[in-house]
Amino acid sequence: MSGPTTLYTLQDMKRRGEKFVCITAYDALFAGLCSSAGAEVLLVGDSLGMVLQGHDSTLPVTMEDMVYHMQCVKRGNKGALLMADLPFMSYASETQTLDNAARLMRAGGQIVKLEGGAWIAETTRQLTERGIPVCAHMGLTPQSVNRIGGFRVQGRDPGAANTIIEEAKLLEEYGANMLLLECIPAALARTISESVSIPVIGIGAGRDVDGQIMVMHDVLGISPITPRFVKNFLPESSAGIPGAIAAYVAAVKEQRFPGPEHSYH
Ligand code: KIV
Repeated sequence: MSGPTTLYTLQDMKRRGEKFVCITAYDALFAGLCSSAGAEVLLVGDSLGMVLQGHDSTLPVTMEDMVYHMQCVKRGNKGALLMADLPFMSYASETQTLDNAARLMRAGGQIVKLEGGAWIAETTRQLTERGIPVCAHMGLTPQSVNRIGGFRVQGRDPGAANTIIEEAKLLEEYGANMLLLECIPAALARTISESVSIPVIGIGAGRDVDGQIMVMHDVLGISPITPRFVKNFLPESSAGIPGAIAAYVAAVKEQRFPGPEHSYH
């Protein structure tokens, strides 16, 4: 990697059609491994509630957890852009959102991610106007698992698909710097990616987005639950864990991952 990754780097990669790689990291050692392997973005995700803490959802994760893990990741990072999740109910009101986003930025974050559609548009405007970049997480939003009724593919019917497209455009208009699309049909993700000028990251959203993200434990094949979009890269590695991370980075950049078998149609 030449110099640290910034939002400008990702924007430029989108313009050139070059795919970028994101992966979750929760500690210094893995942050070092993943960023040295060429991942452009490290996400300190609230998935830590499930993969590190053993909860069955991300809801119990606190701001204290997020700040602690962001500080660890910051120490090990070698030039990747650091994204931090605002956890469940940490962006329910204006002052709370600004305070919590500031805490994550002070801990080392360079962009915050929050889940939602039109309802986070105003929040997005307030954060970005104050210098805090925003990634809007759309499609399957795990913090709303109880309302959705499970971890299900979103946007399958035309009405729901159209809502996601319109909300994506609205969020760009309100200043979002990136979108993350989780578990939506590949054709819908492609339409969204082509409809906005900001970089779009996908997970279970097919190949035709600008970047891919995976939870690190899924890349290493050690998560107990393996949805369709997950691939274990350890069998492709002749160099243990660092080799598996490098294999994931290469597969995304060479557009070999995700394949149709990892996507929803
Ligand atoms: O928290 C997380 O790890 C995430 C990814 C699943 C994208 O939001």
